Formats: sequence, structure tokens, C-alpha cells
Amino acid sequence: MSTGGDDLTDDIFNKIRKYVYQHARISLGENKRELVRARFGKVIRQRKMEGFRDYYQWMQNDATGEALSEVMNAISTNLTSFFRENQHFQYLANTFLPALGASPPAMRGGKIMLRGWSAGCSTGEEVYSTGITLLENIHDPARWDIKLLATDIDTEVVGHGQRGVYAEERLKGVSQANVKRYFDPVMGAKGKPACRVKPALRNLVTFRYLNLFADWPFRNKFSFIFCRNVMIYFDRETQEQLVNRFYNQLGPGGHLFIGHSESLSGIKHHFDYAQPTVYVKR
Ligand SMILES: C[S@@+](CC[C@H](N)C(=O)[O-])C[C@H]1O[C@@H](n2cnc3c(N)ncnc32)[C@H](O)[C@@H]1O
Repeated sequence: MSTGGDDLTDDIFNKIRKYVYQHARISLGENKRELVRARFGKVIRQRKMEGFRDYYQWMQNDATGEALSEVMNAISTNLTSFFRENQHFQYLANTFLPALGASPPAMRGGKIMLRGWSAGCSTGEEVYSTGITLLENIHDPARWDIKLLATDIDTEVVGHGQRGVYAEERLKGVSQANVKRYFDPVMGAKGKPACRVKPALRNLVTFRYLNLFADWPFRNKFSFIFCRNVMIYFDRETQEQLVNRFYNQLGPGGHLFIGHSESLSGIKHHFDYAQPTVYVKR
């Protein structure tokens, strides 16, 4: 008989923490025991396994990547919203875009190249907010070659972003005019009103599964990287490694945006400070 999550001993809890740290560098504190019990208990019951001991054994022996993906889907915190921390979108519109338009560091086929990355994109609200900001503030689109990448370690949220369908109440941060311009009304889950991202915005974005601590398969440098409310889960050493990898992945003038409760103080890096939570590669 399945015990669901009742057999979560200290030993298994610590092994799960170690596994999560090794694979995703997420430090699960002692205070996450109930979260692990609740979220894995559900998965264990769905898999009709005996309990945590069984589940851990399966996790460890799995070579397909299914276990890692299931574990990350169960423990990741995906809180996000449209135009969250709006000062970053204002900065894009009022500071970043005018500067890039005036002296573009990279051109392609006669167009200004702009490559953005939402690293830890969750269900996609962040990258679509970025896309709306760009489309609303670029008045000569024929001059621009824009591509946005959105990645996350949680395959379920990546799928959500890819579908681009959001319950109507999730669009609170989007102005009425932009809801009309960038979303089509559709029937959502359980018949509730929802909105689907229109192709003009959807086609700017590519969604991909990516563990930030795996190799990055990128050919081009980015113009900006949003990695907001993700590093908060990592220890300082891991943050430092990541911030330096971001630096190397940005082109000249490239920007890094981090979450409002995050900071690079105490981290060795080469960025210049632009304003709180905004950093530039000169
Ligand atoms: C709180 S959400 C932040 C979403 C969005 N950036 C924002 O600020 O609204 C954090 C996201 O980071 C992702 N994440 C955590 N560890 C990761 C890792 N090692 N690689 C890639 N994504 C990761 C989680 O799956 C989650 O979707």
C-alpha cells in the first residue's frame, strides 16, 4: 500500500536535498521538509509507489532525465506575473532601447540585432511582458531583428509559456489597450475566460527547457538577460558562477536584470552598476 509521503525520514530528506543541489544547485533548507512531503507525496501516489524510499531509489537509477524533470517540476517555485517589477520594463523602453537604436553594437542583414533571454522564465509572463515592451516602443520594426529566448528547468511551466494561454485574471498587469492588441479571448480551463497570446508576440519567443547549470548551447551573444527571482534559491558561490557566465554570454552594452530582492553585492563580477537590480557590460 502506498504511504504517500508518510515515510520521509531525515536520511531520505537529506538525500533528496543533496540530489536537488547537485543537479540544479537549489539549496533546499530544513524548512522545506513539509513542501517536499506534500509535493512528492502527490507524485508518489500518482506513480503508485510504496513511499519515499521507493521513489528515491527510482530517482537515483533513472538515466532518462525523467526523474530530474519530475523532481524539478515538483519542487520549483514558479511565482510570476505580467509586468512584475515594472521598473525594468520602463528601463527597457526609456533607456535601453533608445541607446541601442542610436548606436547598435550588432547588425544582421542591415537590421539592428536584439537578442533577449528570460533565464528562469516560469510560465512566460516575464518574456511576454518584455516582448510587449519592445513592440510598443520600437516605431520602425523593419529596422530591427528581434528574438527572445525563454528557458526554465521545469518542463510544465515551459509548456504553459509555449501555449501562451492565461486565465483572464492573470492579465491584471497588462493595460486594456495591450490586452486587445496582443491577446485573443479564448475559453480557458473549466470554461473560465482566458486569453491567448497573438502570433505577432508569440512568434518573437522561443521556449526551451534548460538547466542553468548545464552547458548553454548558444551561438549568439545576448543584448539583455532577465534572471529575476531565480538566484535567490542559490548559494553565494553558485550565484557568482552564474553571474560570471551571464557576463560572458552578453554582448557589448549588454544588460543583466535581477530580481528586486536580489543583489550582486558580495559577488565578484565585472558588470557596471546602472541602477538598483540593473547591471551593464561595458
Ligand atoms: C520564482 S520563478 C521566477 C519567474 C520570473 N523570472 C519572474 O521573476 O517572475 C523562478 C523560476 O526559476 C526556475 N529555476 C530554478 N532553478 C533553475 C535552474 N537550475 N535552471 C533553470 N531554471 C531554474 C524555476 O523553475 C522557476 O520557474
